[in-house]
Amino acid sequence: MYPIVRKEIFSPTVKLFDIKAPLVAAKAQAGQFFILRADEKGERIPLTIADFDREEGTITAIFQEMGAGTKRLGQLEVGDNILDVVGPLGVPSEIERFDGPVAIVGGGVGIAPIYPIAKALKAAGNEVFAIIGARNKELLFWEEKMASVSSKLIVCTDDGSYGRKGFVTDALKDVYEANSNLNHVWAIGPMPMMRAITNVTRPWGVKTIVSMNPLMMDGTGMCGACRVQVGNETKFACVDGPEFDGHMVDFDLAMKRLSIYKDEEKRALAALEH
Ligand code: FES
Repeated sequence: MYPIVRKEIFSPTVKLFDIKAPLVAAKAQAGQFFILRADEKGERIPLTIADFDREEGTITAIFQEMGAGTKRLGQLEVGDNILDVVGPLGVPSEIERFDGPVAIVGGGVGIAPIYPIAKALKAAGNEVFAIIGARNKELLFWEEKMASVSSKLIVCTDDGSYGRKGFVTDALKDVYEANSNLNHVWAIGPMPMMRAITNVTRPWGVKTIVSMNPLMMDGTGMCGACRVQVGNETKFACVDGPEFDGHMVDFDLAMKRLSIYKDEEKRALAALEH
């Protein structure tokens, strides 16, 4: 059993858990994820590791309640136990000291997994420009934490309720205009956002890493649920990713696959609410 030792509520649908999972925390690295199952009836939920504390033996997860599984998860409180936590899974981010600054872009709950990457990039001696954005102020979080791991932070909201009004893509264009020696971009967020970022950076020729969040089942490369088309190859996000070269990813296919179980998900959510 894996107890929840801290819970933070960022908004009615965005929540944070610190979960005691010492073996996962001991090995966790930026870019990796874990899969949890809250109870015997719970679905397996993949969550990117938003932070970890090796001394305390905890991992941090931030999630948005989207379907029945995450909604049920959000109802758990400090002291409740998670039945299984499997991880860390996936390939860690390739962090090095790059020749030129790097930009990291987090959209919505994608702010959570981009944080440890920014932290590791900064620790490796990079100049890190950070951009975080959400639909509105209510969905933003970790502004201070992001500021602490970046040389410059731009905060955007689509509706202008906080920070700069507009999309993260526009903010990234401004960063590039002032820093055309940008070496790498990392972008994590909803698939349409990641696709938009890759479309912006493609003509610049700046390597852009995205973290794919397809449907997942086993998380060990056996079931094929998480397949993603990357260039001419079919990759499994759980073992080959979740990070890939965004310019090679077939986002149209990935988004289509993500919506396969939409109707079932709606039914499960309705059942939970009645
Ligand atoms: Fe089954 Fe990746 S989740 S192969």
